[in-house]
Amino acid sequence: MLKHAVKEGFEVKGSRTNLIFYALTQKHLEYLMGYRGKFLLYLCPMRIDIISVIPELLESPLAHSIMKRARDKGLLEVQVHHLRQWAVNEYGQVDDYQYGGGAGMVMMPEPLANAIEALSKERQYDEIIYMTPDGQDFSQGIANQLSLKENLLIICGHYKGIDQRIRDHFVTKEISIGNYVLSGGELAAAVVVDAVGRLLPGVLNNETSALFDSFQDNLLAPPVYTRPAEFRGWKVPDILLSGDLKKIDEWRYEQAVQRTAERKPDLLKD
Ligand code: ADE
Repeated sequence: MLKHAVKEGFEVKGSRTNLIFYALTQKHLEYLMGYRGKFLLYLCPMRIDIISVIPELLESPLAHSIMKRARDKGLLEVQVHHLRQWAVNEYGQVDDYQYGGGAGMVMMPEPLANAIEALSKERQYDEIIYMTPDGQDFSQGIANQLSLKENLLIICGHYKGIDQRIRDHFVTKEISIGNYVLSGGELAAAVVVDAVGRLLPGVLNNETSALFDSFQDNLLAPPVYTRPAEFRGWKVPDILLSGDLKKIDEWRYEQAVQRTAERKPDLLKD
């Protein structure tokens, strides 16, 4: 159904949540009437396989809170595979010295190629992603695009990285989560899985809330307040207590624009 909606020319740049929102509000509404609950909850599961030499690093980030809910509800299936299963010898070797000399080991092509090929026999991947500091900068836009996919394979690098031939012949997307070097790709992969997973319909309690996240419309989120209305003499802006929803919306929009202009003006240029 999702693919059908995409084919029909709905906004494909948006996230799945956006797309479902479109589908539900536009001409698929009728078709979906009888299926709505099931459709949202069961027809769009996403599967993410991750290849790692330290799978333990991924356990906790994906086992709590929203990611736990997504997995418990069957909306997101994440499977972490230990690269050593595909090691070249009984010592579990997966890395070797780099040609040309220099410090640091390189992850060997053979275990990675065998892992990718074995996993690709089970399902066809929409993207084979390598987490690397020299990849494309991760953004809400990329998270939105990835949330439309069904099967993703993520490769976590370690040491000096992976043999270039794997990047040339198997990898379809390279992602960096920032201009700094982590010890390995696992934490970066967890960031991607989290950002993508929370966009899957049914994962967040309020279906629309991902639509209003910071960055979804190239604007940062406005400031938020909760009770008490006055704390240590610091007051919540009167407008938020006014009950005038139209004015509150306008105020939030102005605040979002102002905050974006001050903190991330580049977003306003796109
Ligand atoms: N692996 C190591 N550092 C990384 C980064 N900044 N982004 C993605 N993967 C990485």
